Amino acid sequence: MDNSPATPVTVIGLGLMGQALAGAFLKAGHPTTVRNRTPSKADQLVARGARLAPTVGDAIKAGSLTIVCVTDYAALYDLLGANEVSLNGTTLVNLTSGSSAQAREAARWAEQRGARYLDGAIMAIPPAIGTAEAVILHSGPRTDFDTHAPALGALGTVTYLGEDHGLASLYDVAGLAMMWSVLNAWLQGTAMLRTAGVDAATYAPFAQQIATGVATWLPGYAEQIDNGSFPAEVSALETDARAMEHLIEESEAVGVNAELPKLFKAMADRAIAAGHGKEQYPVLIEEFTKPRND
Ligand SMILES: NC(=O)c1ccc[n+]([C@@H]2O[C@H](COP(=O)([O-])OP(=O)(O)OC[C@H]3O[C@@H](n4cnc5c(N)ncnc54)[C@H](OP(=O)(O)O)[C@@H]3O)[C@@H](O)[C@H]2O)c1
Repeated sequence: MDNSPATPVTVIGLGLMGQALAGAFLKAGHPTTVRNRTPSKADQLVARGARLAPTVGDAIKAGSLTIVCVTDYAALYDLLGANEVSLNGTTLVNLTSGSSAQAREAARWAEQRGARYLDGAIMAIPPAIGTAEAVILHSGPRTDFDTHAPALGALGTVTYLGEDHGLASLYDVAGLAMMWSVLNAWLQGTAMLRTAGVDAATYAPFAQQIATGVATWLPGYAEQIDNGSFPAEVSALETDARAMEHLIEESEAVGVNAELPKLFKAMADRAIAAGHGKEQYPVLIEEFTKPRND
């Protein structure tokens, strides 16, 4: 996957993820400097050829590309905020999880201190790092991404999302929303079918087929959302709402949790009350676009 020339890289933060990141750089042949608050976590990496920097400042000076992957933004500022740490001239790639606002603020903070800054989000677990399955999202200046993409390619499938530093975090949580929604819908069906003696393994391939089929609707529905026009080409929202009522009744009749179907129905009912009953399902974007605090 990685044919880039050897590039000196620094990895700061050697928790489960940071160790995997540094290991992937080493495997790809990049001279790798590491630094962690608890130095013993560098032992295995040092045995594989990494250099353990004595200070954070020294680690940053070792190369033009510094990856930071720590628990949260408070830890990032603890590590890099010390007066003796110069960020001048380095490119920071921050793979610490956080919000889009935190990413934008960290970009301003780093740039004021003379660094270039890319934000990133890792959509993978540590064992996948260094393989194509590890999707790593980046946002920030395109030129910085282009400069460092060859070396970052050692970590997995690196993707560039745009200049706004907050985009990687936003895509990250959008992906989580998709993941939990699919899983929760599957668990709802599994709970209902188990009451009739159907085990989870029997239902799973059927559920997979439905989820895959529904996923093919997304580009067409996205077009409706982007055009702000929701003609009912296959089904009207009020038809869906009647099926939702049926799902609630069935859940209650077989004695399983009906909270999720009731949430679907409550949102559809509000859209219908606002006059959208004869339009198609994605008109619900209007319910998702505004906050609701009750
Ligand atoms: N693990 C995953 O599957 C996964 C997947 C996607 C994204 N991520 C993200 O990757 C980041 C790291 O996760 P992880 O799994 O590597 O966590 P972890 O194993 O708990 O490691 C946390 C790291 O942060 C350092 N740290 C925490 N507070 C610090 C402070 N105040 N000063 C200096 N260093 C501090 C720790 O140093 P010490 O070793 O000295 O404690 C350690 O290097 C998180 O933002 C996480 O959300 C993880």
